Amino acid sequence: MLSREEKDAVYKVIYNRRDVRSFLPTPIPEDKLHNILKAAHHAPSVGFMQPWNFVIVSSDETKEKLAWAADKERRALAIHYEDEGEKETKFLGLKIQGLKEAPITICVTCDPTRGGSHVLGRNSIPETDMLSTACAIQNMWLAACAEGLAMGWVSFYKKNDVRDILNIPPHVEPIALLSIGYTENYPTAPILETANWEKRRSVEDLIFTDQWNNK
Ligand SMILES: Cc1cc2nc3c(=O)[nH]c(=O)nc-3n(C[C@H](O)[C@H](O)[C@H](O)COP(=O)(O)O)c2cc1C
Repeated sequence: MLSREEKDAVYKVIYNRRDVRSFLPTPIPEDKLHNILKAAHHAPSVGFMQPWNFVIVSSDETKEKLAWAADKERRALAIHYEDEGEKETKFLGLKIQGLKEAPITICVTCDPTRGGSHVLGRNSIPETDMLSTACAIQNMWLAACAEGLAMGWVSFYKKNDVRDILNIPPHVEPIALLSIGYTENYPTAPILETANWEKRRSVEDLIFTDQWNNK
């Protein structure tokens, strides 16, 4: 059982965690990084397959290459946002800046072959391997927040560009690029909400009873 304070701390980190896009160059202490990775590794996974790996990138040269891959994709995506293009690509541009600024970028990967061809429970929905990896990333995000560190998720890149840059084998999926570091301004609300892009929906509207659409 959790004490009242412990329970409050769990909810505090869930509600306060934010996606961050600007970082200070201050290095991340080894023990904090280790805590974050250990939290990731304690995520649930289908059939306990633990499909993840973590490629920790701290060299400026490699971070530049990853930023290049994201920027290439940003420019390709711009065609889809003819009206709002400038706003959209500006937002993604900030994330690219974040990739270069943060002292560390972690590429979290998913190996669909781990555990062989009959991972318990994965036969019906094969993408449960990636869902497991997403659980690991959320654990990292919460642990980073608890450690006073900021994290930003970048998912706009061509997987093969990231495979080439980090020497990842062709069957392994690069699921996310995560910038991690200290920040001077940890947002109090989602940045896309503050920028009037999206609002948080009311949870009541999303809950049905017994049948779809039955409130
Ligand atoms: C699967 C996933 C992919 C994401 N990819 C990006 C991304 O490519 N670029 C970006 O700016 N934010 C990305 N984000 C961050 C979201 O924009 C952010 O989580 C959302 O706006 C809510 O804000 P919050 O995390 O501060 O609550 C991603 C988040 C998730 C869960």
